[in-house]
Amino acid sequence: MRKKIVAGNWKMNKLLDEAVALTSELVNMAKDEVQNDTKVILCPPSIYLTTIKNYIENSPNFSLAAQNCSDKVSGAFTGEISAQMLQAVGVEYVLIGHSERRQYFNETNALLAEKVNTALANGVSPIFCCGESLDQRQNEDYIGFVKNQITESLFHLSKDQLLSVVIAYEPIWAIGTGLTASAEQAQEMHAALRQHFASKYGADVADEISILYGGSVTAASAAELFASPDIDGGLVGGASLKSREFTNIIKAR
Ligand code: G3H
Repeated sequence: MRKKIVAGNWKMNKLLDEAVALTSELVNMAKDEVQNDTKVILCPPSIYLTTIKNYIENSPNFSLAAQNCSDKVSGAFTGEISAQMLQAVGVEYVLIGHSERRQYFNETNALLAEKVNTALANGVSPIFCCGESLDQRQNEDYIGFVKNQITESLFHLSKDQLLSVVIAYEPIWAIGTGLTASAEQAQEMHAALRQHFASKYGADVADEISILYGGSVTAASAAELFASPDIDGGLVGGASLKSREFTNIIKAR
């Protein structure tokens, strides 16, 4: 039975007092309202991780993810944060390969493979992001493009390593645009990616991998998306910054 997950990626938003207030509201609402066994992963800016940790410690279904980590283990890399540092402060997950990192920081599939390796070596589970641009969707083999992102960054892993990875499919054209992929479009890609994992690792392993959808998920669109057989939850950006909206998305899972 694969994990159901709703992750909230706050990106570079919220000042500390706002981040604390949002977390407190989410924890309280989830305690009172969420009846399902969904894992909730908060992805605040790294500077807040240790503070936010204190606010979720009595909420066993809440975990933390960093939005990025270095591909290097340690050393003279000014401004970077290592996977070992994340592990040491109790961060269980890390986003790797978000399209904004790929686009603005030139992160390649090969670099992301190194980040995946260093995260896993330090006991931090990657949430590996993948997805195609609008141009690729309209003019190319978009499913082949996303499969290749996975092949180049993940297919060197052992089965056991892969089972610690969560996948987030985020079509770039749907991120922050209000243009959610339809449930059919998302399901098509999720099924193709699960099949891709099956071809390399076998159906049993593929069946265990949680594949999240991201891209303008709202409380209004969540239920239909999450009802699709290969969509195991969401990676939510803008709507995760509002406690009521995000709680309703968690409830929809
Ligand atoms: O990581 C989250 C995604 O980039 C989705 O962001 O929900 O604001 O479109 P969004």
